[in-house]
Amino acid sequence: MPEILDYGGYLLDFELNEEFLHGKRVLDLGAGARLFAYDAIDHSLCQTVSLDENSAGWQSLNLWAKKQLAKGKNPTVETYLAMGQNSVEAKAQVLPFPAESFDIVFSRSVVPQMLPTAEDSANALAEIIRVLAVDGSAFFYPIMMEHWTPEKKEETGCLIACLEEDQSLELELVPIIFRETGNPGHMLRLTKLRRTVT
Ligand SMILES: C[S@@+](CC[C@H](N)C(=O)[O-])C[C@H]1O[C@@H](n2cnc3c(N)ncnc32)[C@H](O)[C@@H]1O
Repeated sequence: MPEILDYGGYLLDFELNEEFLHGKRVLDLGAGARLFAYDAIDHSLCQTVSLDENSAGWQSLNLWAKKQLAKGKNPTVETYLAMGQNSVEAKAQVLPFPAESFDIVFSRSVVPQMLPTAEDSANALAEIIRVLAVDGSAFFYPIMMEHWTPEKKEETGCLIACLEEDQSLELELVPIIFRETGNPGHMLRLTKLRRTVT
């Protein structure tokens, strides 16, 4: 029987197929247990870097990456991959990659719900847009949930409104039912149309 790959449920949640991801440079932001990377790397689907602010199991690479960063060097995606590693400990608000490093950024249950303030979410969004290549897409599952507090919904609504004003981006809000809880909400697909002015 052929093996059925699940990619940690990422393809199902983000409503994507393998063909869309094939050969792309992917950042899994807030990767947690790196569920996407396990299948994606094993089966050479795409080049994946997993990033999390808390990656206790990745200490040797962290040490190396921190030394590089201390020297003012941003290791490129190719460098992480060439080391046979694919994980980096960093915060979504300050991404340790050059601009336009990725074709796809995944945020599953990370931005905005895991970030402590609206400013943190705004910084993370700005960083994600910076590291996305032109024509690249970032996916946020979810971006907004109906059961969130009125404050969180208002904060997130303001962030989405800011993104909508940016002529260099195309946004698509997709209704979802969050798989784990059955709660309704929306996912966001953001595409970078052209270079942003920084
Ligand atoms: C709910 S888990 C989701 C894990 C993974 N995306 C998945 O769907 O299996 C949220 C993850 O976001 C990480 N996280 C929270 N705040 C972060 C930040 N500011 N920068 C990077 N990662 C963060 C947490 O450490 C945690 O691993």
